[in-house]
This record gives sequence, structure tokens and C-alpha cells, in this order.
Amino acid sequence: MRLPFLDRDHILALAPMDDITDGTARRLAHRFGADLVYTEFISAEGLIRDAAKSLRKLHLARDDHPVAIQVFGSHIPSVVEAARVAEQTGPECIDLNFGCPARKVAGRGSGAGLLRTPEKLEQMARAVVAAVALPVTAKVRLGWDEQSINVLDVCRRLEQSGIVAVAVHARTRSQSYSTPAEWDWIARVKQAISIPVIGNGDVREPQDAERMFRQTGCDGVMIGRAALGNPWLFRRIRHYLETGNLPPCPSLQERIAVLLDHLNDAAAEKTELRAVLEMRKTYSGYLKGLPGAARLRASLMKPLTIRQVVDTLGAYQQTAC
Ligand SMILES: Cc1cc2nc3c(=O)[nH]c(=O)nc-3n(C[C@H](O)[C@H](O)[C@H](O)COP(=O)(O)O)c2cc1C
Repeated sequence: MRLPFLDRDHILALAPMDDITDGTARRLAHRFGADLVYTEFISAEGLIRDAAKSLRKLHLARDDHPVAIQVFGSHIPSVVEAARVAEQTGPECIDLNFGCPARKVAGRGSGAGLLRTPEKLEQMARAVVAAVALPVTAKVRLGWDEQSINVLDVCRRLEQSGIVAVAVHARTRSQSYSTPAEWDWIARVKQAISIPVIGNGDVREPQDAERMFRQTGCDGVMIGRAALGNPWLFRRIRHYLETGNLPPCPSLQERIAVLLDHLNDAAAEKTELRAVLEMRKTYSGYLKGLPGAARLRASLMKPLTIRQVVDTLGAYQQTAC
């Protein structure tokens, strides 16, 4: 099965991640082979109230496509209105978040909270599909908790509502991010519905992606945490899928060059200070496996300017070469 806006088998997608998948992270993922990227989730209420943070998240650059804008909310008319606003910025699709486990989201009946009210979830999906011209996708978890797994029912309802593809994060809301993702459920969803299914959870290496495609029959694989500071993962997965060979990890020079691209691009989009502080979340990924990575990472927690980051990396390169 293929997505209506993406003529490709074996889709590789960058997962939506709050405060992480900003324009810079999305563009880097595309540059290194992601077929589809998702924005961070955007509050429907924030968006229709013109909240600055929500509107900032809507900005899409030319090299940011194909992209799904993800919205969340519990009030159906607000989610519909937010989807209409999001549509105006020209993404390839609107994605509905039915998976966020955070108390302030799920506890208020949005995100994974909607898994407890499948009728309402279905009404919301139908209302958004009817309100926008773009395709609408959804991202779900397996259920609220292990006692109430209802992903098959939820996905059938989504398909009947006109949703064009569903991403399944193979954990329940109560499993949060800790227990291993249960890929069997992705396979069961794939059997239960005819729209494309994107599997998600615990893909860290090219072999994991190949295994998820093979074991579940899914149409796409979505990667979250492992892509942080590691945009090459998409290119490496594609190479492995096509040849069966594992490509080498990127060189030190390439890692540092891309890290600095990331930093400079983020600084151009935000402020230099914000970009430098936010980069701290990505260093484990960029430096993974390098000799002395832990010490280098600790020293990169101090800089407050790009110059200081460049100097810290330069000093490391001199000792590493
Ligand atoms: C920091 C962080 C922020 C996240 N934000 C979102 C979000 O905004 N919307 C969403 O649907 N999922 C969000 N997720 C969940 C991821 O999209 C993904 O489902 C999860 O990380 C499992 O995939 P992984 O094992 O590849 O990381 C977030 C996860 C993390 C770690």
C-alpha cells in the first residue's frame, strides 16, 4: 500500500517529537534520506488562539517536504479549526495525535486520552477529514493500558473515517517509552486494515528497520529517538534495505560538519543562545561511538555561543587526529 502523496514502498519517516523535530531537524532528516517527516505536535487550542509558540511550529521551508503537520486536542471543533489553519501552510497531510501519554495531554482527553473514547476519536477523525482537502493521517498507541488494548478497533474506525494511513507506536499509554515495543501488534493492525500502516517503536539500527518491515509487513517505519543527532540513520537504513550490507558510520569530519550545519541552521531560525542550548539534546547522537565521547559531550554542555562550540570541537579534533 502507498500513501496518496508519496509514491514509494518502504517509507522511512522521522517521528514527531516535541521540542526536537523543528524545521532544522526535519530538513536534515530529508537531506539524509527520510521520505516523510512530522512536525512536533501542535496544540489545536494554541493554534486557534494564535499562540505564538504554536504558530511558530507551523512554519514550513521549501526543503521541508513531504511533511505532516501534527495537531492534538480534545475539543472536536477546535481540532477541526486547527487542521484548517495548518492546511493553509501547505503540508502534504494533517496528522492527528492519538498517542501522547503526557498527563497534561492524555489526562485532559486528548492524545492517548482519546483511546479511552473510541467513538469520540472516530468523530474527530471524520470531522477533520470532512473539513480539509488534504489527506489526513493518524498516530496511535496500542491502547490506554495493557488491560484495555484496543488498537485494532481504533484503526478500523480510523480507516472507516477516511484516514489515509496510520502510524502505530507499539506501546500503550501506560507503557510510556520504557518497555520494549510490541511489534506483533503492528502486524495485527496491518492484517486488520487496508490503508498503509507505519510501524513505530525501538528502531535504532538499519537491521531493526529491516526486521520491522519483514516481521510486521508494515508499509513504513517511523524513527524517533534514534534519529536524534543521527540523521544518517535514514540513509544507512535505505542502503541496508537495498543491498543487505551495512554502510560504515559517518566519519568524524562528516559528523562535525553536519553538527555545525544543524547548529547554524537552528540559530538562523531561532536565536543563537536557544540553538546552542537545544543542541545539547543532540550531542549523544552526534558523538556516539567516538573515542572520548562522554568527556567531549560534557564539555559541550558549557558553551553559550557557536564560537565556543566550534572551539571545543576543534580542540577535540586536534587530539583525535
Ligand atoms: C522527546 C519526545 C517527544 C515526543 N513528542 C511527540 C509528539 O509531539 N507527537 C507524537 O505523536 N509523538 C511524540 N513522541 C513519540 C515519538 O513520536 C515515538 O512514537 C516514540 O519516541 C517511539 O519511537 P522511537 O522508539 O523510535 O523513539 C515523542 C517522543 C519523545 C522521546
